[in-house]
Amino acid sequence: MPLVTTKEMFAKAYSGGYAVGAFNVNNMEIVQGITEAAAELNAPLILQVSKGARAYANHTYLIKLVEAAVIETGLPIALHLDHGNSFELCKSCIDGGFTSVMIDASSKPFEENIALTRQVVEYAHDHGVVVEAELGTLAGIEDEVNVSAEDSSYTRPEDVQEFVERTGCDSLAIAIGTSHGAYKFKPGTDPKLRLDILEEVQKRLPGFPIVLHGSSSVPQEFVKMINENGGNMPGAIGIPEEQLRMAAKMAVCKINIDSDLRLAMTATIRKYFNDHPDHFDPRQYLAPARTAIKEMVKHKIVDVLGCDGKA
Ligand code: G3H
Ligand code: 13P
Ligand code: ZN
Repeated sequence: MPLVTTKEMFAKAYSGGYAVGAFNVNNMEIVQGITEAAAELNAPLILQVSKGARAYANHTYLIKLVEAAVIETGLPIALHLDHGNSFELCKSCIDGGFTSVMIDASSKPFEENIALTRQVVEYAHDHGVVVEAELGTLAGIEDEVNVSAEDSSYTRPEDVQEFVERTGCDSLAIAIGTSHGAYKFKPGTDPKLRLDILEEVQKRLPGFPIVLHGSSSVPQEFVKMINENGGNMPGAIGIPEEQLRMAAKMAVCKINIDSDLRLAMTATIRKYFNDHPDHFDPRQYLAPARTAIKEMVKHKIVDVLGCDGKA
């Protein structure tokens, strides 16, 4: 099976009350850990590449790794550009074999966001590629919990219909309380997803796939493991996984997870070196790191996304 777009995946996810995981990839072990998990659970999959990943690993290496995963697993896999910030970057990924791109113009004024998104949609659709756009701004990593500041960054449900109609985008990322990175909310706080906003969006866009970014939950066992093995990460927590599962049962069809895989990988490697200070063969520490990624993805597929058995 060749790489697929997200069209059919999202239609099935919407009607089935689950979401597809979109996991960021940067090297071979990450691709292998994620795709082995999805293959074992027969789950549909989105592998996504950021601008930084492309600069780090090179477009051709990443696309060939993902093509290898398609051959090895036989799964429906979409290859997606994460947070494309210009028409040129999106075009380069479309021309280079991606099946889905995100144009993230969410920091621009409404009309500029519409114009740039529309430009990408026209080019992408002419080439059989789907487009994710974004409305609303996710909280930054260091943001203080401040209700009025938070409120101002949430997606406004009254804007979504006009945005989707005028841009022709295929899915929409919204801001309802998630945030990027491993330093999200202070321990002891009670972060909540605004499912009421999601419900309002869903009413205005019936059947339309919604995307959640910043959906790592920062598992405390891995933060602890990093700090017990020479690390120094300040405590932080994410949105609890049960709330993400509720969103996946609603209109959310794609959930983005990167930081939790990074934490699992880094914690495993740190512990490995603490336990084996004389080892130096990269295969010795990358193999358990790949297994840790695989276990994390299996957990997300079963307990957060609900997409096991849906490939
Ligand atoms: O949302 C961003 C992703 O976690 C990718 O991060 O730009 O460091 O590759 P990156
Ligand atoms: P996390 O940092 O919460 O993993 O979010 C990843 C993401 O949204 C990638 O686009
Ligand atoms: Zn993101």
